[in-house]
Amino acid sequence: MPSNSDSVHYRSQFKPFPSSRYRAWTIREWLGTPPNAVNTSSNFPDLTRPVDPSIPAAVHVWHASVQFVRNLLPELELTLDFSERVRAGAFHHTRDRESFVLARGMLRWLLGKYVDVPPAEIEIKYGEFGKPYFSPDHIEFNVSHSGGQVLIAFARGLSIGVDIEIAQPGVDLADIVTRFFSAEELAEWNRIPTEFQTDAFYRLWTRKEAFVKGLGLGFSLPLDSFAVTFAPGSKCRVTRTPTGFPASSEWSLVDLTESARSLTDASTPGTYAALAVPSPRIAASHWFIRNSLP
Ligand SMILES: CC(C)(COP(=O)(O)OP(=O)(O)OC[C@H]1O[C@@H](n2cnc3c(N)ncnc32)[C@H](O)[C@@H]1OP(=O)(O)O)[C@@H](O)C(=O)NCCC(=O)NCCS
Repeated sequence: MPSNSDSVHYRSQFKPFPSSRYRAWTIREWLGTPPNAVNTSSNFPDLTRPVDPSIPAAVHVWHASVQFVRNLLPELELTLDFSERVRAGAFHHTRDRESFVLARGMLRWLLGKYVDVPPAEIEIKYGEFGKPYFSPDHIEFNVSHSGGQVLIAFARGLSIGVDIEIAQPGVDLADIVTRFFSAEELAEWNRIPTEFQTDAFYRLWTRKEAFVKGLGLGFSLPLDSFAVTFAPGSKCRVTRTPTGFPASSEWSLVDLTESARSLTDASTPGTYAALAVPSPRIAASHWFIRNSLP
């Protein structure tokens, strides 16, 4: 089970299994109730009830891939509002359109489950830098999609950021590190043997993007104004934050790459993912949605 921080309780539920068992198995795992006591409709995981009571900051990560849930897209699309349908219709490539429908529909579905509201009635608003948010119940979320995969993280009262990326061939990674990243990250990058640099780059990239998304600033925050670890074997953490923002010790940075990869098949190698939350201790759980919605 991947765990890269002593402060992170990480429970994953991502092995392929028949859809008919999905809900019961996940919920039973979460609540620890005996199989015959499972009530799938009422036992959707509760953000107010952390796995470990000593770590009150619960984070739920939901992951899906278009290839495993294409059957759900028509149902999910029906829940989108007018502007979202217009946006979906504007995508040139089918894969981008499907990713958007999955991401937005899944977001609505899950938010609806958390607050017990029909998905189509969820009102999504946008912050100054474009970060979508939802006001009721202090539920915070963040969405990322790449190559047909979607990652959505939820927390209560904590701004949260996630990123998922599929490694792309033919990109000048050294140029990006040199031009955009911080001086200490560039120095670290130059110490990494060439054969490990691609892996290190995407870990660095997803961790940094999760951080700027956690702040809600996106790429309006200069990527050289803060630093994270990424060298092979190093503990995943923020090492420097921009002036005026919570100190690095206040952040939990979680590399989700290993669990995200275990969800994907051989057709989508090179998946990287990370999560950033401004809380020094979090209890994170990770679920993969396959064939049916929770
Ligand atoms: C947010 C951002 C980093 C996403 O980068 P990306 O790698 O293309 O995409 P990802 O799939 O990881 O994330 C996209 C999702 O992030 C969310 N998002 C958008 N803006 C965000 C922000 N400022 N902070 C956090 N999350 C944001 C959205 O849910 C979006 O998905 P959606 O458009 O389908 O709803 C980038 O688009 C960005 O910097 N946007 C802000 C631009 C900006 O500064 N605008 C200023 C004026 S509005």
